Amino acid sequence: MRVGSPQHRDLFCRTFIETHVAFEPEHLPWPELDEVNLRRLRAFPFWRYARSIEQRAGRMVTAFAQTVDDSVIREAVALQGTEETRHGRLMEHAIERYGIDAPPLTIADAPVSPEEFAIFGFGECTDSFVGFGAIALARQKGILPADLLDVFEGVMYEEARHIVFFMNWWRYEEARAGRGSFGTHALKALGYHARAAMGTITGATDLPPMPALDDPELSEIVKGVTPVMFLQAALAENRRMLARLDPELIKPVIMPTIATALLIGIRMLPPRKDTALPLSSSKGQDDGDLGEARDAA
Ligand SMILES: [Fe+2]
Ligand SMILES: [Fe+2]
Repeated sequence: MRVGSPQHRDLFCRTFIETHVAFEPEHLPWPELDEVNLRRLRAFPFWRYARSIEQRAGRMVTAFAQTVDDSVIREAVALQGTEETRHGRLMEHAIERYGIDAPPLTIADAPVSPEEFAIFGFGECTDSFVGFGAIALARQKGILPADLLDVFEGVMYEEARHIVFFMNWWRYEEARAGRGSFGTHALKALGYHARAAMGTITGATDLPPMPALDDPELSEIVKGVTPVMFLQAALAENRRMLARLDPELIKPVIMPTIATALLIGIRMLPPRKDTALPLSSSKGQDDGDLGEARDAA
């Protein structure tokens, strides 16, 4: 299959549309939570930000779909807009159901153009990678119950579909315009990642700063998470999520590559004296982590 061909377009649009799951957020299997888990869930400070960001994504992607000439791509982008809007409703439902204090937050709408959709798409690649790691770690550490994390994993799978659809759309449009080789694509993609990050940073100046985690028990658990643990969890979950989608599709590589390089870099640092392990156990751990990194590469 040639990138930029009608077969490529049909594959990335059809895969996206066929893997869409119809559901209403209020009908998902939300578990009853005990006092400890309710307190932990309410303590996370990101709810009002996540709801507003999803709502804005829904408006932006839906508006962008209406500007797309190709009817096959338009249908898929419109479906992504529907899913983003549903993410906003899902966040709203979780906030109401579990009594989370998350007053409404207004974020200005993003402009609508192919360029802005590209910046948004690369931003989603970063956010999804971080989200994969966060959900996987919450599961590993037992921070929240598995049945609640299953609900949020469903959201993350939709985000995995979004970033794979986006990456194929971007490469399709680049190929159709006769732009780029592998090296220039990687450089351009890095530029978009940077612009997405800058947008997040500049957008954040309009927003109240996110408060710190205000729960001693939860803070203690979070403090026990090292960068290596996070990177390994994110890489493994990224691999698992993306493997669920057609192997012929182009998959995002920038975040996994950066994470793998960081993991190798961290492992090359000399051990801190106060945390150095005896040689035998330290070696075993190093081998395992680098093995993960090599797998992920
Ligand atoms: Fe979303
Ligand atoms: Fe998304």
